[in-house]
Amino acid sequence: MTDRVPPEIEKVLVSSQEIADKVAEMAAAIDADYAGREVLLVGVLKGAVMIMADLARALTIPVSMEFMAVSSYGSSTSSSGVVRILKDLDREVAHKHVLVVEDVIDSGLTRSWLLRNMKSRGPASVEVCALLRKPEAAKVELPVKYVGFDIPSEFVVGYGLDYAERYRELPFVGLLKPEVYATS
Ligand code: IMP
Ligand code: MG
Repeated sequence: MTDRVPPEIEKVLVSSQEIADKVAEMAAAIDADYAGREVLLVGVLKGAVMIMADLARALTIPVSMEFMAVSSYGSSTSSSGVVRILKDLDREVAHKHVLVVEDVIDSGLTRSWLLRNMKSRGPASVEVCALLRKPEAAKVELPVKYVGFDIPSEFVVGYGLDYAERYRELPFVGLLKPEVYATS
C-alpha cells in the first residue's frame, strides 16, 4: 500500500510499509535478546510516541512503558546537550531492564544526557533503540543497540517527528518542501 502524501512533502524517505517491516525486525531481535525478562520501555515525548506504540505491540516479551518529557536548551534546530526534565518517569527504574526508545538520534547530545541519567538510577541494564539515526550521531560516543534506518543529515518529519509541532501524524518519514520553512 502506498502512503497518501500531503502536498507539503517533497519526498518520502521511509514509507509506512518500510517502517512496519523494520519495527517487526527490531522487535524480533529485542524479543530474542530479552527472552525470559521483562523490559521497561522509556520514551521521550513527543517524538517517540509512534515508535513506542508500534514497537510495544510488535514485541512478545512482557513490557511496561514510561514516558519522560525534556527540554533541550538551544535553538529549535540544534541541541546544546543541556537538558531540563519537564516530566519525569512515574516509576522507579532501579533493577529493571530499561530500553530507551527513540525517534531519531541527531547530535546524540540529548541522548547521552538521558543515558547518563538512566544509569544513575541503578537499572539492571540500559540499551537504546532508535528508528532513525543521522550521521552526526557518530560524533558522540553513544551505544545504540537497535537502529532502524541510517538517514542523511537532513531535517525530516512524520512518524512522531515535527516541524513547529506539525506533521507528527504522518505514517511515513519524509522531507518537507523548502517553501514550507520559508512561509512560517
Ligand atoms: P539530539 O540527538 O540531542 O540532537 O536531539 C534529537 C532530538 O531532536 C530528537 O529526539 C527530535 O525530537 C529532534 N530532532 C532531531 N532531528 C530531527 C528532525 O530531522 N526532525 C524533527 N525533529 C528532529
Ligand atoms: Mg521537535
